[in-house]
Amino acid sequence: MSNPSEAELIHRFKGIPFTTRSSPELLKSLDTFDARDDDVLLVSYPKSGTHWLAGVITKLYNTQVTLTSPIEFGDVSKLEELNKLSSKRIIPTHLDYNMLPRNFKNKKCKMIYISRNPKDTAVSMYHYYRENPNLPTVDTWTAFFDLFVKGDVVCGSWFDHFLSWENHANDNNILFLFYEDMKKDLPKIVKKISLFLGLTVSDNDIQDICKKSSFSEMKNDTEKENSDPSHTVCALTSNRKLIFRKGAVGDWKNHFTPKQNRRFEEIFNEKMKLSEM
Ligand code: A3P
Repeated sequence: MSNPSEAELIHRFKGIPFTTRSSPELLKSLDTFDARDDDVLLVSYPKSGTHWLAGVITKLYNTQVTLTSPIEFGDVSKLEELNKLSSKRIIPTHLDYNMLPRNFKNKKCKMIYISRNPKDTAVSMYHYYRENPNLPTVDTWTAFFDLFVKGDVVCGSWFDHFLSWENHANDNNILFLFYEDMKKDLPKIVKKISLFLGLTVSDNDIQDICKKSSFSEMKNDTEKENSDPSHTVCALTSNRKLIFRKGAVGDWKNHFTPKQNRRFEEIFNEKMKLSEM
């Protein structure tokens, strides 16, 4: 059987590439979504540590919470499905700020944005593309690198995504986090998240959550769990080994050539000149 064509896998909505698993009807109807005051949004550009953060957040609650698949993933019945959930909802999304359903903004729902060094994000995404039949085929790292810097990958440009959210980094209902900080001092970040969410968590519990959220523990756990893609944060694969690949900082050095690094730095400096981070 031949591989599905790019057109079967990807479509554009408002100029941004989405997988065909996000139906245009759903994307069009997002603004009608009924947010609840206590919804928590988990926001990221793909491959920034979303599953890791989701693992931490769900462990922080000792009441029933439901981690949903991304709000933009599925067909138009998705919004109705989310409406039916009676427990508190932790809702992941890769949408940029401008596309986020306006109800979340009006209700000032809590949102946690996780970012990662875009070079490592690019490498992680490259491997994900390579292994995932639900994404277009990429033959080489060089070819993927070009697509990434042009923003011609699912969810569009890393720079546009980051900047759209960074504009709101000082809003009281938004917490900005970095993958690298989680790697450096997870207990500190877990504490920060618990304060932001208004949860009282003991130091012992924080230690326990960090232990259970280590790369090896999460990788082991996930291999035992249900492999239904609708139960994963990324929802694009039933192969969870694809999500827990290496979990390292600096893997870009094993992929970027010096020339690619220079080109990336130039683009980064140009695109991010208005960034404060
Ligand atoms: P790598 O491909 O570099 O290994 P997302 O969840 O947004 O799809 O991000 C996936 C990336 O987060 C993968 O990066 C994955 O290995 C890493 N990751 C997942 N769980 C992790 C953990 N507990 N600790 C560190 N990194 C983790």
